[in-house]
Amino acid sequence: MEQFEYYNPARIVFGKDKELETGRLVKPYAKKVLLHYGGGSIKKNGVYDRVVASLRQEQIEFVELAGVVPNPRYSMVQKGIALCKEEQIDFILAVGGGSVIDSAKAIAVGYYVDPSVDYWETYFMTGKPAEKALPIGVVLTMPAAGSETSSGTVVTNDETHFKRSIGGECMIPKFAIINPENNYTMPKYQISCGCADIFAHLMERYFTQVSHVDYSDRLLEASMKTLIHYAPLALEHPCDYDIRAEIAWVGTIAHNNLLDRGRLGDWGSHDLQHELGAIYDIYHGEGLSIMFPAWMKYVWKENPERFVQFAMRVWGVDYAMEDPERTILEGIHQTEVFFQRLGLPIRLHELNIDDTHFREMAEKLLVNREYAGNFKHLTVDDAYNIYCLAK
Ligand code: NZQ
Ligand code: ZN
Repeated sequence: MEQFEYYNPARIVFGKDKELETGRLVKPYAKKVLLHYGGGSIKKNGVYDRVVASLRQEQIEFVELAGVVPNPRYSMVQKGIALCKEEQIDFILAVGGGSVIDSAKAIAVGYYVDPSVDYWETYFMTGKPAEKALPIGVVLTMPAAGSETSSGTVVTNDETHFKRSIGGECMIPKFAIINPENNYTMPKYQISCGCADIFAHLMERYFTQVSHVDYSDRLLEASMKTLIHYAPLALEHPCDYDIRAEIAWVGTIAHNNLLDRGRLGDWGSHDLQHELGAIYDIYHGEGLSIMFPAWMKYVWKENPERFVQFAMRVWGVDYAMEDPERTILEGIHQTEVFFQRLGLPIRLHELNIDDTHFREMAEKLLVNREYAGNFKHLTVDDAYNIYCLAK
């Protein structure tokens, strides 16, 4: 196990009706709030009304910025920064999924970036950590990205078509309100995409080359097994509180960095997915259900024992003494079957994506990076080969 430090100060407020406490939670930080949200799902399902009522009850002034799209855009971030300055905003409240939260985080950091500095080039394209941000709070409407307590944001530049992230403790939300009832209105495909993303966050951490990490291995395995059990049930019973609560809690824990302390996660599949998202504007989860199995097939020889452990402990595959490769491939196959059971694609052609941009995506992946991924350091050729495997 490697040495580590762990710090995650996000207050998690979990349970039925908890969005009615938004005003109370915002109050200590804010005189004037930017209420940031997406394409309108919160207006249809009543979350908007309850959040606004709670802010009004505490007499908190707010201005609104709606219209965040999946794969949130840098142009919206720039609009948000200008609005925050104009309106003298001192707190950003994100009400939505990962895209809304990430847009809020990027606005919060950009607010403090010297206007003479090119925010995108200096931070997103180099990975320079963010040091200062407006405080933000979250009312989460779908479990998936884990951005509600994570220290990162992922944004797509609509001009250059790069999808890149920045990190920094200053972006960890002050609070995350998680009411699983607010997930009931999610479209089924979003339930599946969200579960694929959560599963991918667990696998990115699981596939490490660091040894003697048995405790966090077991926590990750338990989390994966919980999701394998509950994800299909959520599709069958979308309004079952107990089922949605299990998924909501795994979703947050999967990405608040607790489960990767003392180990080094991979993140190559995420990076490969982000290149796809930047060009094709597909959902993050459907990109991962394609790229992760392809990555697994490409890299397992780097540490077969870890893949045997994954197959046996997560999927209950028997050890094939005479042919361990069979055990490994069965573990990868079971992962694909899980994604298919959720109605997700496992090959690019299912999303009508052909090889036109494979080389371009592989090259963009390595812009300003020596390599991608940690389990195996991926080169441009490796990335290209993985896209070919995913065809
Ligand atoms: O925009 P609205 O109308 O709200 O609709 C959204 C959107 O169309 C809808 N939705 C959300 N909650 C709903 C709902 N519809 C009905 N009822 C509800 N309760 O779902 C659609 C997808 O929302 P989005 O926020 O895009 O999904 P998700 O949470 O999966 O976020 C994806 C983004 O997060 C990034 C991804 O790259 C992607 O851009 N990630 C962020 C991370 C982080 N900051 O730590 C880590 C992740 O690995 C990920 O990369
Ligand atoms: Zn993800």
